[in-house]
Amino acid sequence: MKKITLVFGTRPEAIKMCPLVLELRARPGEFDVSVVVTGQHREMLDDVLAAFGVVPDVDLDIMSERQTLFDVTRRVLDGMRDVLTARRPDVLLVHGDTTTAFASALAAFYLEIPVGHVEAGLRTYDIRAPYPEEFNRVAIDGVTEFLFAPTEATRDNLLREGKSAARIFVTGNTEIDALRYTVREDYSHAQLDWAADSRLVVMTAHRRESLGDTMRGIFRAILRVADEHPDIKLIYPVHLNPAVRDASELLQNHPRIRLIEPLGVLDFHNFLAKAHLVLTDSGGIQESAPALGKPVLVLRDTTERPEGIAAGTLRLAGTSEEGVYREFTRLLDDSALYGAMARAENPYGDGFAAKKIADILA
Ligand code: UD1
Ligand code: UDP
Repeated sequence: MKKITLVFGTRPEAIKMCPLVLELRARPGEFDVSVVVTGQHREMLDDVLAAFGVVPDVDLDIMSERQTLFDVTRRVLDGMRDVLTARRPDVLLVHGDTTTAFASALAAFYLEIPVGHVEAGLRTYDIRAPYPEEFNRVAIDGVTEFLFAPTEATRDNLLREGKSAARIFVTGNTEIDALRYTVREDYSHAQLDWAADSRLVVMTAHRRESLGDTMRGIFRAILRVADEHPDIKLIYPVHLNPAVRDASELLQNHPRIRLIEPLGVLDFHNFLAKAHLVLTDSGGIQESAPALGKPVLVLRDTTERPEGIAAGTLRLAGTSEEGVYREFTRLLDDSALYGAMARAENPYGDGFAAKKIADILA
């Protein structure tokens, strides 16, 4: 029986690791599973755990308001040293590119415990974008034994870095698995009723490198486009980061823009399913929205998800006010472009990545 520990700490990691937790726990003869959460996020993490019915075995509960990268790294590294020393799993599974994932992988490496990296091989090749995530993912893959790459392109990145092909497994992305648990045909919500007479735009923004003036420029562009398009309504669940909330004040008083609290994952995935289009700087939404046939304008200068650009489902809008204004206007006004993006194929897998990962671990 394989002794597996999974660790995660933020909303997106939880959304993508819970399907794997459920898969591993459904195979009790094969795996002895423990789940550790760092609590890098609190409310946004707890919502996901509740939605999937996952109860962690250990909660390091490290979050503090306006925490720095130093705070998170130090607390996770110390906490995971103790957890891993006590349990000594055969494999520690980490996800993606957060500081929880980086510091946990580092702790496992120091203790000579093999690491499995779910969502390995994503790269922008710009160490400052996204920041610090590009560094985190490169560093994690440097100490990883089992590289679970979501796509062929991410496998190729790892091969180019000299990683052995025998350690790389192409699995699809577990974000698509999560949609099988969340999206319902008969879903309804009062906010969706408000937008029912309009084209619904769903937006999120939270990237550290955009906080401040860059984010305000993006929001000014959105106000201009909203003024010029009376047939759209925009719903924006605002991330709990106080720095995001400061910048978002700009959007507060528009009659067709609603700022709301972060949505639970069940709600958010169903909002995506009902959207006309999506504006986001999120990583995970660049995967889930295409799987739901929704065109995405990526509010960034670069992306580690070029498969979505190549497939035609994502477009980079950049982070300048003029660039976002131009791309957003074009996607609303150019129905041929919109149709092509909506019909593009989702490149992130068939929704059974967790099963593939479990089979490989077994
Ligand atoms: C983190 C990840 C980022 C990921 C994002 C997902 C790092 C360096 N960054 O960024 O890769 O895309 O999560 O959302 O790991 N807060 C709350 N309650 C919550 C969550 C956050 O109050 O449930 C507030 C806290 O004040 C916290 C701040 O948000 O200090 C920022 O959280 P943090 O995890 O440090 O960074 P994110 O920008 O969320
Ligand atoms: N999400 C959510 N509620 C929200 C906004 C996003 O549940 O109000 C989900 C979204 O569907 C995706 C994940 O959170 O599955 C992405 O998380 P986030 O954008 O915070 O992080 P990133 O993917 O950029 O690391």
